[in-house]
Amino acid sequence: MSEAFTAGCVQFTAGPDAAPNLQVVADLVRRARDAGYGLVISPTFEDIGVFRRVGESTDVVRKEMYDFYDKGDPPRHLALRPEGTASVVRAFVQHRPAVPWKTWYVAPSFRYERAQAGRYRQHHQLGVEVLGTEDPLLDAEVIALLDGFYAELPLRRVTLHLNSLGDDTCRPAYRAELEAFLAARADQLCDEHRTRFRDNPLRVLDCKDPDCLAATKDAPWQLDRLCGPCATHFATVRAGLDALGVRFSIDKRLVRGLDYYTRTTFEFTAEALESAQNAVGGGGRYDKLAEDLGGPPTPGIGFGTGLERLRMACAAEGADLVGPSPIDAFVVDTTGGVAALRLAQRLRSAGIGTDRAWDSRSFKAQFKLADRSGARVAVIVGPDEAARGAVALKPLRGGEQVEVPDELVVARVREMIDAED
Ligand code: HAM
Repeated sequence: MSEAFTAGCVQFTAGPDAAPNLQVVADLVRRARDAGYGLVISPTFEDIGVFRRVGESTDVVRKEMYDFYDKGDPPRHLALRPEGTASVVRAFVQHRPAVPWKTWYVAPSFRYERAQAGRYRQHHQLGVEVLGTEDPLLDAEVIALLDGFYAELPLRRVTLHLNSLGDDTCRPAYRAELEAFLAARADQLCDEHRTRFRDNPLRVLDCKDPDCLAATKDAPWQLDRLCGPCATHFATVRAGLDALGVRFSIDKRLVRGLDYYTRTTFEFTAEALESAQNAVGGGGRYDKLAEDLGGPPTPGIGFGTGLERLRMACAAEGADLVGPSPIDAFVVDTTGGVAALRLAQRLRSAGIGTDRAWDSRSFKAQFKLADRSGARVAVIVGPDEAARGAVALKPLRGGEQVEVPDELVVARVREMIDAED
């Protein structure tokens, strides 16, 4: 891997950073499973055509895709996954599972961005996608799932922005109106949009450049131009969120950076982060995407939330994304290591998270590791204990050390753990 690439990539799978992130993943997975979602694992790369459906006018497709040709004859044009939704919808179209198909995933995504804090060339998204229903109360449930997940993190200042982008009935006329509005003010737009606003006029509304912001202050908004069914759909989404006590702010500028969205769109921003990188998660409906990918008309909705952004947002609020230690017991063995091997296995088989030291370290060094592990009980075996067929148990968060016969070790460790809960 070149230095430039690793510089733009935060590793979340190994090292001391892994545990808190596993905890974050576990929290969302538990929530998703409790709501009937199943795991989907999609390939890291696909035919480039799958991702092109994300939108020819988006930066993700135009500038940021990692694409390559394989060794086929003729070679196939492939791309690394820049986001999770298109692959899941492609899998749906290919395998046609029963609907509603409710899925969750955690996956690396690759975008050739200018790497900077919060914007990486490899980032990791936790997401859900549901295919097969356009019920607006599902939109409320999906948004509430993400909202509830954030509420469990040490993240306090998060705002939910909500908008509707209409559908094929109301969007074309709105788009034409917006294009005419922008054409009359083209000279006031930023350098990029002055010439490119016709590619996707809606994207200009999302531009953070002060010139574009000023020029579009009085722009027409899709939300004010929804057709009857889209307006009713959006009203029901809002009522559903109200019923669940999820607070949101209507944001007529919210268009999102991918082109497949229809109707409901949403984004969660962390106020502690700078505005260019403050979106911690977002999503919306994509009722046409399955058809675009060659499948039957099938509505869909989902979200993706970036693990790196979440961690940054927590750090910016001065809170650490640290989960509880999965380890309850730590075996300290100064008799050579075989006793630890057996004890760790017995404790783990009994469902007690257990770790141990390696390399026949000194008692002091092993005890230091026990302290650092987050375990609650040190299970100690020295030559004296071994001779008596016993082990010593030392509560690591305060308390007297006791000696117990070897056969009672599992029961007594469990008692000590339960006593702390
Ligand atoms: P997205 O808004 O492009 O949406 O990405 C979702 C989240 O991934 C962002 O809110 C952000 O937290 C994180 N993210 C995106 N790009 C980067 C990057 N370069 N570095 C670090 N974090 C990043 C999607 O990808 C859609 N597939 C979401 C969705 C699912 N819509 C419907 N279903």
